[in-house]
Amino acid sequence: MDYLIKRNLFDNKIVDADNIYLIDESGNKIIDGCSNSMNVNFGYKVDELEKVIAEQLNSINFMHTGKGITQAAIDLSIELHDMTSHIGDYLVYLTTSGSDCIEASLRIAFLYHKMKGDIRTKVMSFEGSYHGSTLGALSVSGHEKFINMYEEYTTTATFIPTEQEKFQNCYNFNDFSSLILDSMITNPIGSKIIEEDYIEKLLSKSIIGDCVTIFDEIATSMGRLGTSFGFNEKFSPDIICISKGLGVGYANIGAVLVSPRIMNNIEPSQILGHTFNATPVDCSVGLAVLEYLKKNKIYENVNDMGKYMGKYLQSLKKEFPIISKISGKGLMWSIHFSNKISSKRFIDLCFDKGLMLLNNEIGVNNHVTICPPLIINQKQLYEIYTILEDCLKEIHNG
Ligand SMILES: Cc1ncc(COP(=O)(O)O)c(C=O)c1O
Repeated sequence: MDYLIKRNLFDNKIVDADNIYLIDESGNKIIDGCSNSMNVNFGYKVDELEKVIAEQLNSINFMHTGKGITQAAIDLSIELHDMTSHIGDYLVYLTTSGSDCIEASLRIAFLYHKMKGDIRTKVMSFEGSYHGSTLGALSVSGHEKFINMYEEYTTTATFIPTEQEKFQNCYNFNDFSSLILDSMITNPIGSKIIEEDYIEKLLSKSIIGDCVTIFDEIATSMGRLGTSFGFNEKFSPDIICISKGLGVGYANIGAVLVSPRIMNNIEPSQILGHTFNATPVDCSVGLAVLEYLKKNKIYENVNDMGKYMGKYLQSLKKEFPIISKISGKGLMWSIHFSNKISSKRFIDLCFDKGLMLLNNEIGVNNHVTICPPLIINQKQLYEIYTILEDCLKEIHNG
C-alpha cells in the first residue's frame, strides 16, 4: 500500500536505466521505444549532463526570475537566439514545461493586442492537437479526448482541420488573438505532418489579420525530426515553443522564443511567471544539450536512423494487413491499425516482450507511436523491429 496517485500504464517499478534501456525491479530490461514521453532524447546516464548539473550546484542552485539573473540563463538565451538568427531576432522567455510555454505564449499574444488597445481572446488551433494539461493549454488542444473531458470548464478554441482541402475560408483572422500551429501532430493522431503549403497559407492570413502566430515545437524540435525545428525554417513565426528536447529528462525547462515585433509592446513583468522558471541548473542543462546535439551529430543520426525505421515499418505493413498506414519522419513514427485491432493490446504485448511504446488515445484513434531516443543505433532499431514483428504475428494469428 502506498499513497501515490498513479496514472501509469504499466505497473513495473523502474529501478535503473542506461542508454536506451530501462530496468525494472525484477531485473527485466525494457527498451525505451518512446523516449519516455518524447523527451529522453539522449537516453539515460548521460555523463556530460550529469557533470554539468554537479558543477552548477557548486555555484548557485536557484534564482527566482522576478529577483535576479544568472549567467546560465543569459548564456542559454544567447544560444537560442543565435540558433534562430536566420529566421528572426528572437528574445527568449524561459519556462518549466511545454504547458507552461503554451500558457506564456497565450498571455503574450493577449498582452500584445491589449497594449495596442485591442482585446482579443479567441485562439485558433488544429483539430487533433495537444498543447498541454493546464486549463489554458487544454482549451486550445483540439483532440476529442481532451475536449470531451474538460469542455464544461475550458473556453474552447476554434479548431481547424489538419488538411488544407477541408479548411473553410470563413474566418476573420482579425478576430483572433493567436493561431497555434504544429509542424507535425505527434501521438494524439499518430505522427501526422501538416503540409507546408497549408502552413504558409495560414501564416499569411495571420499576418494580414495581425493574429500572433505560435509554433508548438515542444515535441518536434531539437532533432526529433532530424532538424532543429519541424517547420520549414524559411518561415518566421512570431513565437516558437521548445521544451522536451531541451531538457532531455534532466531539466524541467521550456523556452518561448518571441519576436521583437511582439515583445516591443509588452512590459516583461506583465507576462508573470512561475517559481521554478529558468533555474540555473535547468538552464545549464539546456546549454549542455545544445552543445551535445552538435558534438554528437545527433541530427545526422536521426536522419540516418529515421530512414531505416521508415523502411522497417513499411516492410511490416507489407507483411501484416492489420496495419492500415505508417506515418512519420525522423524518429517519430506511428503504426495505424485497421479497426479490428486493439492498440492497447498491442502496447501491452510489446511491453511484455520488453519494448515500451507511447500510450495512445484508445477508443478515439487506433495507432501506436514509436519515437526512441535520438542516439539509437541500427542494431537497437533492429531489436525494436523484431519485437514489433513478434507482437504483430501474435495478434495476426489471433
Ligand atoms: C506538442 C505538445 N505540446 C505541449 C505539450 C505539453 O508539454 P508538458 O507535458 O511538458 O506540459 C506536449 C506534451 O506531450 C506536446 O506533445
